[in-house]
Amino acid sequence: MKTMKKVLITGANKSIGFETARQLLDLGYYVYLGSRDLEKGEEAVARLNSDNVEAIKIDVSDEASIKAARKTVGEKTDVLDVLINNAGVRGIVPQTPSSVSVNEIRKVFDTNFFGLIEVTQTFFDLLEKSEAPRIVNVTSGLASLTLHSDPSWKYYQVKGGAYGPSKSALNAYTIALAYELRDTPFKVNAVDPGFTATDFNEHRGTGTVPDAAARIVKYAVVDENGPTGQYFSDDNSPETGVSPW
Ligand SMILES: NC(=O)c1ccc[n+]([C@@H]2O[C@H](COP(=O)([O-])OP(=O)(O)OC[C@H]3O[C@@H](n4cnc5c(N)ncnc54)[C@H](OP(=O)(O)O)[C@@H]3O)[C@@H](O)[C@H]2O)c1
Repeated sequence: MKTMKKVLITGANKSIGFETARQLLDLGYYVYLGSRDLEKGEEAVARLNSDNVEAIKIDVSDEASIKAARKTVGEKTDVLDVLINNAGVRGIVPQTPSSVSVNEIRKVFDTNFFGLIEVTQTFFDLLEKSEAPRIVNVTSGLASLTLHSDPSWKYYQVKGGAYGPSKSALNAYTIALAYELRDTPFKVNAVDPGFTATDFNEHRGTGTVPDAAARIVKYAVVDENGPTGQYFSDDNSPETGVSPW
């Protein structure tokens, strides 16, 4: 019997991460549903109503929590096929670049950048044991430095000092990691789910959660001919889906 592919999704107790879990379950994956609050994670698991999902407590801004999650997952499996680094925070609003406190910027980077790297490194040995490891780093259209230089871009004026920079940094890390792994079976991509109605933006987003999750899932399941080291954003590039960096 073919074993099920296993995926860890951070920040999956609600919104885009939760829906990503649902879609991957439908595709036959076994899901480790990451949640920084175990109770919320278990409630989410109950809503999914499947034998192939379990909650894992993981706060990506807390080294001890990441280590504990690695230990827990390691007691359940020797192999992880997919890591979806979805957990993210927006930070306070506004984030006026000349005045937003470095403390606030650090908080955003702790989750969106350093936390993502720490999770990736901590679970790397399990991913290496997969025949076809996939890493999806959930980024934002606002990460594009090229588009931030284009006055005709619809988000040209959205220039906060914390969130966008944290996702641009995440993109830079994605490029570097994908390059390191270029001669291996790994595929590592940065994927923008699009401006989506969730708690993240008080539901002001224009896209739907199922569409956002489908964008992530698409790159979680790519085959050996699929892309690596790319930045995908249907919002930034509706025709090709490939965003300028
Ligand atoms: N929504 C959009 O328009 C949009 C656009 C572009 C990119 N994104 C990105 O998409 C991802 C998901 O966004 P969303 O709209 O689903 O946001 P959301 O509704 O705010 O959900 C965020 C999830 O991340 C979790 N999380 C936050 N900090 C965490 C930490 N330190 N450790 C573990 N989990 C943590 C939250 O947990 P709690 O429930 O405990 O808070 C929640 O499960 C984020 O990376 C975001 O930057 C969103």
